[in-house]
Amino acid sequence: MSFWIRPAREDDLEEIVALNDLAFGGKEEGRIVRQLAESDDNVLSLVASDDNIIAGHIQFFRMKVDGQPTAVGLGPMSVHPDFQKTGIGSGLIQMGLMALEGAGEQIVFVLGHPDYYPRFGFSAELAKPFECQWSGDAFMALRLSDGAPADGRLTYPAAFG
Ligand SMILES: CC(C)(COP(=O)(O)OP(=O)(O)OC[C@H]1O[C@@H](n2cnc3c(N)ncnc32)[C@H](O)[C@@H]1OP(=O)(O)O)[C@@H](O)C(=O)NCCC(=O)NCCS
Repeated sequence: MSFWIRPAREDDLEEIVALNDLAFGGKEEGRIVRQLAESDDNVLSLVASDDNIIAGHIQFFRMKVDGQPTAVGLGPMSVHPDFQKTGIGSGLIQMGLMALEGAGEQIVFVLGHPDYYPRFGFSAELAKPFECQWSGDAFMALRLSDGAPADGRLTYPAAFG
């Protein structure tokens, strides 16, 4: 089976929420995706689809640095358990980062598996100088431009509570 990556459409939302519920085994990530989709904080939402089912989804959302909308957050992302470890997650991240760089975004943050995201260039070291409710190895950043903020106070969208 082969999947292609495209921007999520409005009528994908229920399937995307169900995919998040399945991949995470709970309702929290699906709720966040829904709330982001219905807000102004949605920056980019991509799906991996074969025109029949959605096998993967990645969400990017607006974050503020010192009150300015100069950063993006990654998450949640999910791949259907039947199709994990086949490269879909990697494809979604790479395509997403390419689109964000093309759109002039400067820096991306993620709270996620510390053994997974560094392979795409995310670094906990880079995230350390930022003031945030999260810290440690799982909180990582990736710079898309030299002019990206290097420190500051981060604000997450309301969907993250
Ligand atoms: C994490 C997830 C999105 C990865 O997607 P994927 O399509 O399976 O990933 P890829 O095929 O691109 O990459 C597979 C690699 O990721 C690694 N990986 C997958 N889940 C991982 C985890 N929880 N921690 C560390 N590495 C992980 C695999 O071991 C594999 O490594 P390898 O290339 O060295 O063999 C997917 O496993 C998933 O939906 N998991 C449940 C929900 C979740 O945890 N989402 C991410 C929250 S941060």
